[in-house]
Amino acid sequence: MRKALFLFILVLLSASNAMHAQTTKQASPSTNTGTFIAGDKEFLLNGKPFIIRASELHYTRIPKAYWNHRIKMCKAMGMNTICIYLFWNIHEQVQGTFDFTGQNDVAEFVRLIQKNGMYCILRPGPYVCAEWDMGGLPWWLLKKKDLQVRRLTDSYFMEQTKNYLNEAGKQLAPFQIQRGGNIIMVQVENEYGTWGSDSNYMETMRDNIRQAGFDKVQLLRCDWSSNFFHYKLDGAVNALNFGAGSNIDDQFRKFKEINPTSPLMCGEYWTGWFDQWGRPHETRDISSFIGSLKDMMDRKISFSLYMAHGGTTFGQWAGANAPAYAPTTSSYDYNAPIDEAGNPTDKFYAIRDLLKNYLQEGEALPAIPQNPEETITIPAIAFTQTANIFENLPVAKQSVNIQPMEFFDQGWGSIMYRKQLSPCNHKQTLIIKDVHDWATVFINGKAVGKLDRRRGESTVEIPTLKANARLDILVEGMGRVNYGEAILDRKGITDKVMLSDGKTETELKNWTIYNLPVDYKFQTKAKFTAKQATGPAWYKASFNLEKTGYTYLDMSSWGKGMVWVNGYNLGRFWKIGPTQTLCVPGCYLKKGVNEIIVLDIDKPVAPNIAGLNHAILDVIGKDDNQLQKAARSLNLNGLNAVVAGTFPAESGWKTINLNETTAGRYFCFEALNAQDPNDNSTSVAEFEIIGEDGKAISSINWKVVFVDSEETVKAANGADKLFDIQESIIWQTKIGDKANHPHQVVIDMGKEINVKGFRILPRTDKSTKGMVKDYRFFLEKKPFKV
Ligand code: GLA
Repeated sequence: MRKALFLFILVLLSASNAMHAQTTKQASPSTNTGTFIAGDKEFLLNGKPFIIRASELHYTRIPKAYWNHRIKMCKAMGMNTICIYLFWNIHEQVQGTFDFTGQNDVAEFVRLIQKNGMYCILRPGPYVCAEWDMGGLPWWLLKKKDLQVRRLTDSYFMEQTKNYLNEAGKQLAPFQIQRGGNIIMVQVENEYGTWGSDSNYMETMRDNIRQAGFDKVQLLRCDWSSNFFHYKLDGAVNALNFGAGSNIDDQFRKFKEINPTSPLMCGEYWTGWFDQWGRPHETRDISSFIGSLKDMMDRKISFSLYMAHGGTTFGQWAGANAPAYAPTTSSYDYNAPIDEAGNPTDKFYAIRDLLKNYLQEGEALPAIPQNPEETITIPAIAFTQTANIFENLPVAKQSVNIQPMEFFDQGWGSIMYRKQLSPCNHKQTLIIKDVHDWATVFINGKAVGKLDRRRGESTVEIPTLKANARLDILVEGMGRVNYGEAILDRKGITDKVMLSDGKTETELKNWTIYNLPVDYKFQTKAKFTAKQATGPAWYKASFNLEKTGYTYLDMSSWGKGMVWVNGYNLGRFWKIGPTQTLCVPGCYLKKGVNEIIVLDIDKPVAPNIAGLNHAILDVIGKDDNQLQKAARSLNLNGLNAVVAGTFPAESGWKTINLNETTAGRYFCFEALNAQDPNDNSTSVAEFEIIGEDGKAISSINWKVVFVDSEETVKAANGADKLFDIQESIIWQTKIGDKANHPHQVVIDMGKEINVKGFRILPRTDKSTKGMVKDYRFFLEKKPFKV
């Protein structure tokens, strides 16, 4: 008995020594090497089965001072691995100059993960998506007029990505587990199956990653259950990504058939979702989230939680989705288990409670670490110093043609296009193609109209003009699209501006251009005075603090713009919400005097800001541009459906072919009932139109022209979610709507198409609510009668 006890203690001691070696190891990693491979149906770490319990964290969205705390939080939540993206565009902000220092010192982040006895999965892209400006690709690529991305056919793109990967290799290849580090896998590209099917492109990216020094590590790729088979990539284990509440067996069914010996992993299990301006705050309830996580644990499926802690997308880095163009908020709270300020939420405790039952032998959950920062409040700060934009314009540039900001060497911010207009004694219409993303049109400094890309707006009525009328178009670029084919998203005005008298359209030429970038230095150049601001302006104030800590600036009385505190760009605010606060990490504040500058390109109702002890993430504010939706109904009388039928009560994509290829521009999908006869609702995840070549046509210019019911208040489930290329996000009729079937949606495809059929995807979570049974599909060349 004593011998057994002695042996047991010996085993414990050696295990703890091994862990100690692990935790105190310094990078450049030691000679204490290991192995990690995708074996037969299981991952093998140093030859032993290993289930990855990973948490995604983004070093760019967490101030460096808190990296260690957030890693420890993940460990306390029950994780053994941290999954990270590498963000190319934050490291190479100026082409050819790489910065991996300070907040960008990703090697230090990986070292901290290792010090905490955790493993790391690295996802260097080059494309990463991540609700990050242009999906991590640098904006300066857009200076090339015919740029293509994520394609072998653009040698410039391929060369730039190779340079970047080589730099990434210099920083992180020493951390491969085979060299004594903690990186167990490196991901090639990101969800390439949603974009293309060129296996050669993926093979080239894989080879470039290998050549960059990641020569020993296990490679990984991630896709969706509906598209992982679009391409092949030897040498990379395949993970699938899906959302909270998914049916796990459904998700892996086809995958297991095609890859019977692969270990199973959810590469991104979405804990919540990101918020978009003007749409309700996204949440995912704990019970369905935990249910599917438990399903994975019971099946020994590895996972990575995306996000464990979203943090904040500071500055200008938040991206956008399209179609329809929908910029992401600066708060990346994500309804994740760890909130924006690093505190545990109920979801955190639920995960910890679940995972303590699934630990590997010898593992124990550490205590939850204390947040290094308290949360503080700041009494209202009044802004008395202001500087009008019109009085503080930078040196002008001249351009014959309208061009977006990239061609003036500007990455982010606002751009103003100015020109004199000839006198005119009648009203005219200004046509702007295209506004990226939010514009105010001024005549002699007075606002005459606002345009919002989210609604595809492009015209402003111009009043009669006297001599010397000055036209100014101030355009603010919001996040660059980070997903799908709209990713080549130049900012400002992308094509041209025309003036129409109702009969003829004249293109306006010879512009004076003012670039208003986002750098802090530029904001400090304005001459502040005690005058009251009129129109777009900077506001400056200082405030005193006795102690520092996390706080949330309440921006709800302001219009639209950005905020800098002590030189740190906190991100974007916009009165339309749902985010009404800007998160200020304690480490950005000082005891004593602090400086705050606000740029409001609209106008505040009351120019003051208080620091709150909580975030406001879920208040939709007043939207001046919002069109009043009149109550309408759809008249299908006299029209014949081109196809009608019954869907089986099954999940997964369904393809419906028309009897013959039919031309049309407008289509109506009508749900006549649901699979459950007592269910009066409709829900659909995705809808595609199949063109003549048998492939889905682009939905980039689609517009919803009619929907009888959509949920846009309690959840972001509007009808445009039908073609947002996000399979976990649905269109659903208003929650609790009493209206019965039929439910109809009409979409304008922007041009006439020869249609072979359509594809439809029911919701992909475990719920079957709203699943369509009988349907009709109409296709017309002329608009439907509404
Ligand atoms: C995908 C991408 C991620 C992120 C999530 C949504 O899975 O791979 O980068 O964009 O969607 O948050």
